[in-house]
Amino acid sequence: MSQADPTPLFAGVRVIPVLTIADAASAAPLARALVAGGLKVLEITLRTGAALAAVRAIAREVPEALVGVGTLTAAAEIEPAIAAGARYLVSPGTPPALADALARANVPALPGCATVSEAMALAARGFPVLKFFPAEASGGVAWLEAVAAPLPDIRFCPTGGINAGNAGNYLALENVVAVGGSWVAPKDALAAKDFGRIERLARAAALLGPMEK
Ligand code: 3PG
Repeated sequence: MSQADPTPLFAGVRVIPVLTIADAASAAPLARALVAGGLKVLEITLRTGAALAAVRAIAREVPEALVGVGTLTAAAEIEPAIAAGARYLVSPGTPPALADALARANVPALPGCATVSEAMALAARGFPVLKFFPAEASGGVAWLEAVAAPLPDIRFCPTGGINAGNAGNYLALENVVAVGGSWVAPKDALAAKDFGRIERLARAAALLGPMEK
């Protein structure tokens, strides 16, 4: 296993909540609700000013959660993310300089791709599991099925447009390790601090099944 391989971290995990947190005070109760619902690997996007404070709060207060940082778009964001407590890193797309920096980081990465050439370039750099983003807009299940034969060694974590209704179609694919999505923590539930609803959504998502590959 290389440092770039997130597979050991994701053992048994099939759904990764993608969380955009506006208020860091919500981070720990949100993480507790998701863990209580059965989802322990979480991704906090770097799309708000509160993101790193949210990562710090979860790392400190909810040790049973395994928190990563997503929406990484520049190498300079890697060190602060790891210092805040990120156990893995995710990018929406992966230009060469970012791929180099992710490969050097001392935590695993899920670098983003949306084309066959991008997937091949990242696999050649030593990343065995790639984020496929934006999954629905880029071809979804049909794309993943079509690349399985020519790219038999690459596995994917699709995100973007995945929800309770279509997640099962992705998870049925041999080359899909897990799916990511924001549907388990909807914006309105987060704004209302309705962590009970989020826990119920997490429980339903966790029932989509354990990872067997
Ligand atoms: C991501 O960064 O992975 C996506 O924004 C998640 O996509 P979704 O909001 O459509 O689930």
